[in-house]
Amino acid sequence: MELQHIAIIMDGNGRWAKRRGLSRAEGHRAGSRAAQRITRAGRRLGLPCLTLYALSTENLLRPAEELAALGKLLRHYLDTEVPSLIEHGIRLRVIGNRNLLAADLNRKIVAAEKQTAAGRDMTLGLALGYGGRDEIVRAAQALARRGRLRRVTEPSLASALDTAGLPDPDLLIRTGGERRLSNFLLWQSAYTELYFSRVLWPDFAARHLQAALRDYRQRERRFGRTDASLAPATGPVRPQGKFK
Ligand code: FPP
Repeated sequence: MELQHIAIIMDGNGRWAKRRGLSRAEGHRAGSRAAQRITRAGRRLGLPCLTLYALSTENLLRPAEELAALGKLLRHYLDTEVPSLIEHGIRLRVIGNRNLLAADLNRKIVAAEKQTAAGRDMTLGLALGYGGRDEIVRAAQALARRGRLRRVTEPSLASALDTAGLPDPDLLIRTGGERRLSNFLLWQSAYTELYFSRVLWPDFAARHLQAALRDYRQRERRFGRTDASLAPATGPVRPQGKFK
């Protein structure tokens, strides 16, 4: 597969639940099942990297009851999903601000990352306590601590982000009908193709992922250049001379 990385904003759990007269927690539970389904679909398609936005820094402002339900769900996911990830050669990589997460959740994350570290077929990124601006600030702070901020470059900043070493997303999908990035992978999605689906996340199935891929393949990615100047490049490049 020519495409390296798909990132997904999994939106619509609450509306899915409301339409069925269920609690928001039930919506998130169905959302968790959809996350498992789409992870397997991505793996079957040979996708090297999939990143799911499971909990944003802004989500942490939701009512305590909903956060408790999400916390329970994520703990359950980390406790039970590891054998399946190992079986399918999937390496788990959690991105986000660990200082915003409870100590026991962090321990489960570290354990799951360690147990799946040998997975070579796909990297599953899970964004937890994640905000794009927060990530860039933490990267700048890390560079400052190492005395490297005065000579900061795009590669050095990228290497201090949570996603260091991962390819930038080629395609970002948002379900649930809204059309915004909501602080997800702000640095990394500079040249990412965006795809918005009206399907609510719990209903998102392999066929919807395939529809997004078909749409992506019809697009022409020029990374800010023209057809004529595009030939040898497969990604964004630095300009060779000054604009005159
Ligand atoms: C947005 O729906 C979704 C979230 C805030 C949480 C996403 C979490 C999951 C899909 C479950 C956990 C995932 C894993 C991998 C265990 P919303 O509540 O904002 O929906 P709404 O816009 O319809 O209210």
